Amino acid sequence: MTQKTKAVAQKLEVITIDGPAGAGKSTVAKELARRLGVFYLDTGAMYRALTLKAIRLGLNLEDAATLVEAARDTKIRLENHNSGTKVLLDGEDVSEAIRSLEVTNKTFYIARTGGVREIMVGWQREIGARQSVVIEGRDVGTVVFPKAAHKFYLDADFEERVRRRVKELREKGKQVDEDSLKKELQERDHKDFTRAVGPLKVAEDAVVIDTTHLTVNGTVDEILKHINK
Ligand code: C5P
Repeated sequence: MTQKTKAVAQKLEVITIDGPAGAGKSTVAKELARRLGVFYLDTGAMYRALTLKAIRLGLNLEDAATLVEAARDTKIRLENHNSGTKVLLDGEDVSEAIRSLEVTNKTFYIARTGGVREIMVGWQREIGARQSVVIEGRDVGTVVFPKAAHKFYLDADFEERVRRRVKELREKGKQVDEDSLKKELQERDHKDFTRAVGPLKVAEDAVVIDTTHLTVNGTVDEILKHINK
């Protein structure tokens, strides 16, 4: 570790990573947090976990007030283990369940609800106030931690993002229909970029990294270069 990276671990520092689905945020953020020895915070997992709860309870996903009430009544805990991140929804391990196609495609209901976002942002700030974090999402450099020490925005060509998603799903032994996956990713992009609250955009002071031709380690090296500047 250099002096600067040591400072990240020792001081309360926040590193934000935003970007569209499939740009490599999760793998890069996890590896960066590991190398720096700080907490990895996956904000998407929070939106997914509340979506899972709402689906299970049969809540009306169109009804903002119901979703806000559900969020107030929910405890989401993220734990980092060597084996991966554990997502606890009201005490239950839902790390696998939140990755289902149904949850992925319905998370936009939760994500577009301003009142829910306020609650989520509050939880994320609390975690970042206690320790140094590498936080990953769509609005983490713009809304959650606008004064973060280091901000990054990861992007990649659409075709490459599709390729990565296909690979990831196949590795999990899932059947993949590439055409429908492309459509789903396009729709998710559109919803992420255009929602009224917390849309995906590049923070003015973020470093933009195109990961299309970079490996995970190559991207982490690039990020560390900027942190160490
Ligand atoms: O990052 P991931 O793909 O797991 O996020 C799932 C969904 O949660 C995204 O498509 C996005 O709509 C939403 N999200 C969000 N704000 C964040 C993180 C995720 O709206 N900070």
